[in-house]
Amino acid sequence: MSVRRLAEENVQPGEFSFNRENAAWAKKKIKDFPKGREASAVIPLLMRAQEQDGWVTRASIEHMADMLNMPYIRVLEVATFYTQFQLKPVGTKAHIQVCGTTPCMLRGSEDLMKVCKNKINKEPFKTNEAGTLSWEEVECLGSCVNAPMIMVFKDTYEDLTPERLEEIIDLFEAGKGSEVPVGTQIDRIGSAPIGGLTALTSDPNVKKSKPKKTKPKKTESATAPTVSAVEPSAKAAASKSPTSKSKATPAKKARKAEAVADLDDKNRPQGMERPADIDDLKQISGIGPKIEGILHELGIFKFEQVAKWKKAESDWVDGYLSFKGRIERDGWIEQAKAFAKGGQDE
Ligand code: FES
Repeated sequence: MSVRRLAEENVQPGEFSFNRENAAWAKKKIKDFPKGREASAVIPLLMRAQEQDGWVTRASIEHMADMLNMPYIRVLEVATFYTQFQLKPVGTKAHIQVCGTTPCMLRGSEDLMKVCKNKINKEPFKTNEAGTLSWEEVECLGSCVNAPMIMVFKDTYEDLTPERLEEIIDLFEAGKGSEVPVGTQIDRIGSAPIGGLTALTSDPNVKKSKPKKTKPKKTESATAPTVSAVEPSAKAAASKSPTSKSKATPAKKARKAEAVADLDDKNRPQGMERPADIDDLKQISGIGPKIEGILHELGIFKFEQVAKWKKAESDWVDGYLSFKGRIERDGWIEQAKAFAKGGQDE
């Protein structure tokens, strides 16, 4: 946790005032609170000041104290307590706050900070050369279940890998931060188990929640399509003919431009017709009902099929599922070999 002090005097502007629109908003906001309790508006007002100027200046703190009839020290206490308030000028396009508390640290936040050091500046709170990006380490931001995570402005980006963080930073640098889907960056609903439900799966009374519909505008570099985002016609083609490789027309190929892997690719693992005795692929850690369904569409039903995947085939499936290396990290092939050899006990 960094020491939170006001910026040096030489960068502090002499005065602060809200622009017309914000001044009207602030007046209305103060009226939301009962008479004598106007001080309760201090956090929204400070946040508005930050949104207007990019950071919280000494002058804005004093201005807020005057508006709310509070001693300067009280507003200073609030501004220096919450890491959501930036006390120094930060990157104009993004200030990346990397959670470094235990759950995020155990899930790789140190690697995320390495990315920030390489791509932005070795030192926290210092901007890149263009002055557009900066970063800092902060304490828990409340998304521990989807660790590791970062916050940029008011939004969190979760379940990050160093590669995904690099993409996100590039998008913010390109002014396309709004195109990054907020929240988890992998295939899960909110903070539900990866790969779908792991309990109560057969209880018809359990309502299965649907993924919330976010509408990120996809760009090539921003594309981290979830499994459900894999182009439907491609999936349909796979389910129709699992054993034969589909003949995609140029039009079809164009339609599946966003699909990560090509169904005609020579590295696509050989599928089979659905046998009577299929294996429960969900026993492989990292495969839930949804992923299992997609594997079935690809003609993958048995542990021994997964166990025989060569690297290129495993990479193809990884790309098809937009997993960014998760198959290798989760050790699907090793797990499948064990299951194929000795069943569940093994
Ligand atoms: S530990 Fe990182 S969000 Fe809680």
